[in-house]
Amino acid sequence: MDLSRLVDEALREIDTAVDENALIQVRARVLGKQGALSLQLRELGTLAPEARAARGKDLNDAKMRIEAAATARLEALRATASATRLASERIDVSLPACGPSLGHMHPVRRVESELIEIFAGLGFEWVDGREVETEHYNFDALNIPADHPAREMQDTFFVRPGVVLRTHTSPVQVRTMEKRKPPLQVITTGRVYRHDKDTSHSPMFHQLEGFLVDDRATFVELKGVLYAVLRSLFGQNVEMRFRKNFFPFTEPSGEIDIRREGSWGGRWMEILGCGMVHPNVLRNVGYDPDLCQGFAFGMGLDRIAMLKYGIDEIRVLFENDQRVLERF
Ligand code: PHE
Repeated sequence: MDLSRLVDEALREIDTAVDENALIQVRARVLGKQGALSLQLRELGTLAPEARAARGKDLNDAKMRIEAAATARLEALRATASATRLASERIDVSLPACGPSLGHMHPVRRVESELIEIFAGLGFEWVDGREVETEHYNFDALNIPADHPAREMQDTFFVRPGVVLRTHTSPVQVRTMEKRKPPLQVITTGRVYRHDKDTSHSPMFHQLEGFLVDDRATFVELKGVLYAVLRSLFGQNVEMRFRKNFFPFTEPSGEIDIRREGSWGGRWMEILGCGMVHPNVLRNVGYDPDLCQGFAFGMGLDRIAMLKYGIDEIRVLFENDQRVLERF
């Protein structure tokens, strides 16, 4: 093929190569081992010596022009590719951001820590308890007889014979009184377990237990403390009612119910049991009921949270659906 046509065609193909691959093919076709130009270079040897120098120079010039064009084209192709990629990877800073969501305390935790603070203001010290208890501390020491219905399998989770998941926080009363001497003013909080489930009961729930033992504690003081605490938590105008109740470990015993519009359907909900510590319980821990007396109470923290935050079903508190919990 005529050299100048060969060069023109090669240059045109190089200029219109759409990508690196196309460019490589053009180069191979012209400059590769079997390439058109390479064949012509190889034929140089067959030429007469006089013609060889001029022809060799033409071929070399042609080769260099084609090489230069290919290199230029390659750079241009790479520049375009990189520009295209940068454009496609550009971040649109005008899109609305989805920021990190901020967590907050669970409603039960919030109620718990608020109450701990309120009780601290009244002089109550917080102590810890254990969730796995012996039947002795959970029942016997609290004057709950062996035939009491609360001890039956359907109410209590047994870990093994004689060992249970505590059904209330009251065993902390016993353990604390055993270790210390009156005067005592203590609260504890934590999980308790019962074989129970409906809209206001869950098999695991939370209680706050409190008790005060000295030589002159009275029922009136018990009422005074509880009313003060609940008014401080729910506001001065909270609707409360105090009713008699029965617990084996207090005598006399009572309960407090609370009613709030919009929560729990505006119905009364029992939130705590209370009473004067039973003389048998005092005896069981080695106290002399003639020398000391005390009052005790146990509140359901989940129910208090339900009333405080207007939650109708207890399971809402334990399903841990963030979208729901975020509302409180
Ligand atoms: N332990 C009782 C319950 O779980 C509550 C309570 C505590 C009652 C202390 C009286 C005194 O229902």
